[in-house]
Amino acid sequence: MRCDTWTKGATNNNVLFWFCVSLSDVCYQIFNSCVKPGFPKTIKTNDPGVLKAARHSIERFNNYTNDIFLFKESHISKALVQIVKGLKYMLNMEIGRTTCKKTKHPSLDNCEFQTNHTLKRTLSCYSEVWVIPWLQRFEVPILHCY
Ligand SMILES: *[C@@H]1O[C@H](CO)[C@@H](O)[C@H](O)[C@H]1NC(C)=O
Ligand SMILES: *[C@@H]1O[C@H](CO)[C@@H](O)[C@H](O)[C@H]1NC(C)=O
Repeated sequence: MRCDTWTKGATNNNVLFWFCVSLSDVCYQIFNSCVKPGFPKTIKTNDPGVLKAARHSIERFNNYTNDIFLFKESHISKALVQIVKGLKYMLNMEIGRTTCKKTKHPSLDNCEFQTNHTLKRTLSCYSEVWVIPWLQRFEVPILHCY
């Protein structure tokens, strides 16, 4: 019953359909397991949405820290996703210092991790990233690194 309501509500709504198309893995699971919206689900750590959410977290991290080098995600150990007016990702990951200097605004994809023992640094982070696909908006309400 709850599942019918959810499916009906979803198909009546172009917005939800749109993000189902772009995140078909998640939606496949949602529609097939009849998960109540709002319940966090484990998602593959290599899911494109997870990778994008991780990158948003890192960009936020780099923007708010004073390090002269950029950090980049090195390993995502756990990812959950929850439907809340869009998608909320909850990520556990490790991030590491790269050899790219902040001032040069390089693309993170081309940044290598530090190999110099003095400069090498790894942090563990927990972040929450809220993505509203139809507005092409994202927020990072929580980001803890230690
Ligand atoms: C970077 O941080 C500044 C404030 O320190 C903020 O105004 C700006 O929106 C941030 N940019 C991003 C992309 O997070
Ligand atoms: C590692 O970095 C430190 C600090 O910048 C520098 O003094 C040292 O020469 C570097 N070591 C190597 C092996 O590059």
